[in-house]
Amino acid sequence: MAGAFSASSLFDQLHAAEIASANSMVGHLSPARVATDEDYWSLIRQAYTVSPNLINLNNGGVSPAPRVVQEAVERYNKLTNEGPSYFMWEILDQGREPLREKLAELGGCSKEEIVINRNATESLNTVILGLDLKAGDEVIGCKLDYPNHMNAWKQRALRDGIVYKQLSFNFPVEDDDQIVAAFENAITSKTKIIHVTHVINWVGQILPVRKISDMAHRHGLEVVCDGAHSFALLDFKIPDLGCDYFATSLHKFLSAPIGSGMLWIRQDKISKIWPLLANGDPRGTNIRKFETLGTRSFPIEQGIGEAINFQMAIGNKRKEERVRYLKNYWAEQVINIPKVKIRTSLKAAYSCAICGVSIDGISPAKLERALFNQYKIHTVPIEYENVSCVRVTPHVYTSLQELDKLVRAIREIATAGK
Ligand SMILES: Cc1ncc(COP(=O)(O)O)c(C=O)c1O
Repeated sequence: MAGAFSASSLFDQLHAAEIASANSMVGHLSPARVATDEDYWSLIRQAYTVSPNLINLNNGGVSPAPRVVQEAVERYNKLTNEGPSYFMWEILDQGREPLREKLAELGGCSKEEIVINRNATESLNTVILGLDLKAGDEVIGCKLDYPNHMNAWKQRALRDGIVYKQLSFNFPVEDDDQIVAAFENAITSKTKIIHVTHVINWVGQILPVRKISDMAHRHGLEVVCDGAHSFALLDFKIPDLGCDYFATSLHKFLSAPIGSGMLWIRQDKISKIWPLLANGDPRGTNIRKFETLGTRSFPIEQGIGEAINFQMAIGNKRKEERVRYLKNYWAEQVINIPKVKIRTSLKAAYSCAICGVSIDGISPAKLERALFNQYKIHTVPIEYENVSCVRVTPHVYTSLQELDKLVRAIREIATAGK
């Protein structure tokens, strides 16, 4: 029965030997060089079950899981239904602590700082609604943060009288100092919190979280980081960011089952955050106080383990380099097409997977429809605040042939002018 929740068993059966052998072929190469090795990445692509009839370039919204993750969820689901209360609470439940350890290994932190939950929204609401703030206390965020969390701060403003200030940026900005200075200039004697999105979902700009955190700490502030688009894509360890709270979904770049998320809280901050869903020891120091979620999907939760195995077999740095290479591959080909504009920095420090593109005279909604109707390329139109573009987000399973088709499509649409 121990094998029922073993997070490594399916990966070992399906992929471990094959990926280990592919890794040994490229082991002597730098991650940047492996990023261009199509043989290696075609093996990774084969591990996914994506539709051959659609080119999915909206992995920023949510990402597919490789087959091994899907099969794990199905296996755990079948097991659950053989006797739910027994198999969930006595068998699968035993997988939660090993899973916490694996997530901590991936995040480079203590397992006593990891909360396993359902998504970044839940993680950020836990922190935003769980902080002790009083009327007049100020929070600094940005107009291009994710709406769910802007709404959480706005709710606190309405309910508790906190002051929520939002900065405006005209991305792309290729200057860390400018970004740090904008946050610093907004600080007053009442400021308590800075909310920073690690990778801006609308245009893919990477923000200098470490520098913002260091500056904030010099002023005695805390930093809440939204890492929905950075975790398991950019090669970093959570403590390296210097923030106090880090939230992410696991169903984006980790390719974990859809409906899985994680929250990291620096150990000395755990006691002061009230759980979003009440627990018997709300002021306690045990991170598990944030997991009184009631009955939820154990199969989804346990499927995360297989996604971590898959991620670790590729390696964070290789993955980051490959996905950035894919983004640059298409963006650098369209940037000189008349009327085509790239809305994201192509410098490595400022972007990775997500890139915005627009064509003069064609609205984002029209461009997105043309890409889908004429080429079956799935992207997302963005018209939000000062951003107007179509967002394109490849993943590790994206092929160069698919991106060639995207480049051809953009050229043809720009030339036709409609
Ligand atoms: C920057 C950012 N934060 C948070 C979220 C929320 O993620 P979820 O819907 O998984 O809670 C998203 C979703 O796309 C996002 O782009």
